[in-house]
Amino acid sequence: MCGIIGYVGSADANTPDAIDILLDGLSELEYRGYDSAGVALANAELDVYKSEGELEELVSSLSVSELREPGVGIGHTRWSTHGPPTDTNAHPHTDDSGRVAVVHNGIIENYQTLRDELTAEGVTFESETDTEVVPYLISLYLESAENADGVRSDGGSIVYERAFRRAIDRIEGSYAIAAVFEGDETIYATRKESPLVLGIEENGDGRAGDADGQSTGAEGGYYLASDVPAFIEHTDRVVYLEDEEFVRLNGEGYEVSDEDGTTIEKTVKTVDFDAEDTGKSGYDHHMLKEVHEQPSALRQCLRGRVDELAGTVTLEELDTFVEQEFAAPIEFVACGTSYHAALYGASLLQQRGIHATATIASEYTTDRVPVDDDTLVVGITQSGETADTLRALREANRAGGTTLAVTNTVGSSAARACDHALYIRAGPEIGVAATKTFASQQLTLLVLSAAVSSQISHDEIQSLRRVPDQVRTILETTSAREVAEELVGSDAFFFIGRGLHYPVALEGALKFKEITYEHAEGFAAGELKHGPLALVTENTPVFAVVTGDGQTARKTISNIKEVEARDAPVVVVTDGASDVERYADYVLGIPETNERCAAVLANVQLQLIAYWVANTMGRSIDKPRNLAKSVTVE
Ligand code: G6P
Repeated sequence: MCGIIGYVGSADANTPDAIDILLDGLSELEYRGYDSAGVALANAELDVYKSEGELEELVSSLSVSELREPGVGIGHTRWSTHGPPTDTNAHPHTDDSGRVAVVHNGIIENYQTLRDELTAEGVTFESETDTEVVPYLISLYLESAENADGVRSDGGSIVYERAFRRAIDRIEGSYAIAAVFEGDETIYATRKESPLVLGIEENGDGRAGDADGQSTGAEGGYYLASDVPAFIEHTDRVVYLEDEEFVRLNGEGYEVSDEDGTTIEKTVKTVDFDAEDTGKSGYDHHMLKEVHEQPSALRQCLRGRVDELAGTVTLEELDTFVEQEFAAPIEFVACGTSYHAALYGASLLQQRGIHATATIASEYTTDRVPVDDDTLVVGITQSGETADTLRALREANRAGGTTLAVTNTVGSSAARACDHALYIRAGPEIGVAATKTFASQQLTLLVLSAAVSSQISHDEIQSLRRVPDQVRTILETTSAREVAEELVGSDAFFFIGRGLHYPVALEGALKFKEITYEHAEGFAAGELKHGPLALVTENTPVFAVVTGDGQTARKTISNIKEVEARDAPVVVVTDGASDVERYADYVLGIPETNERCAAVLANVQLQLIAYWVANTMGRSIDKPRNLAKSVTVE
């Protein structure tokens, strides 16, 4: 959701043209979801270009060859919150004199008050956005700051930074903001509850050098972005900004400081993925590539965590946990796909006799779900930046609970906001629809539940270790494409499951609706007869997950008979252990394993069903309409 990129070429290096870096960076941020885009180039003059729609619209409106200059710029992909996606509402926003340009991610909660105040000062706003107050505030303070002389340590004028800081001081809400000024080859930026990361490029390639904080000015360039993929092609050396830190980047280097302007020594970290990881590697869509990456992602997830010989599981990130924290009530909070992982995780713990619940993060309050010193609140969030989940975790922290982030993103806001972090190690996921991160969340929670309850049998360890290969088998043998092509065009699609397969049914339906735009619903299999059965017809396929041959399977088979009697096409995802195939029109097989691991395998078949239906319908699979990868507003 909204993406920021900024670039300043080093004064000492041969730097590429800023426009190329900005456009490449924006295209790497497309996965976050957006509906308009823009750039501002700040050399002797400030040039702003922006456009509604896809990035190609922006590119075709630019005469890129005329913009070829090394230098300084910022860019933005906007996902509409205040005002529809139009050229005018797109970022960057400027004041009426056009001497400052601003990009923003997040929500300015007091924007109406600020807008009224600025209107009274004579400002006429062009856009409907909350962001447009920022350049006008900066401009207002610039006028008063101009009377106060001052020179920065790098020789630049201090007035811009002062005006920027004063404007930020007036803002309430969540934000990552970057600004550039006419005639000042510097980017000023800050963040609060929205991510911002710096990329530090060494001469030429950015993949070496010592990690010792402030720069010397010897690097090739400095990047600023909402997420690392925006600049990973150029450098893997990063500095994560914390809430309410400010950064100034120019050709001489960068300086991070706190609210009072005191310099902060930051550690430069090296991230461990490269540009290859964010490409499509020959697949038509990132989503399909990421579905096929699941065997290696899951292997990576298990690495070093499961010891077959010793019969133990270890999560080294949680070494500092005291045992009592695990025995206590465990409350999961999460959104979207991660919420389905949370439901799955809570069921795993319940099966092991631990009190656990899952709450949708936007519905979570400590009044509803009381927290005391013994409570462990686990936020599941692949991005680590989802505003609803972050808010819930912060509230739980304030109420005295212990917090744990289960996330894919090292250094993310959730990882930093929580007492502990556990990484799912899925690698970068670009497709908006979460696939490999869900599977990795499931597997991480499987390991966590075993670690928490100190119960894991030799058989279970073996089953866990087999999951990556079993997923590979599914990918090699699936008939999901043929089934999808048969069923495309149906009126609606229903997904049912019981026990650990209930979250899988919910996730199957969510994936399906996200990328096909067709009506899809997931139900607990036993609930079908309590209402949803009224929707079932011969034109509403029902996907049922049935594994093993125990009571759960037998009861789900009864529910399948209920839909079969209404002539609905039945697709079963099964390991073949029961006789469910007798009642099925189509069968999607998975290898035999225990119910816990079967929930990971069954989901892969449903991912593929969603993908092939969406593909047959020609949908925008990697960037579904109206959706964003990382939702940074509540
Ligand atoms: C958005 C995405 C979903 C995702 C949800 C939670 O809505 O479109 O795919 O499941 O956010 O994301 P998180 O990063 O917290 O797991």
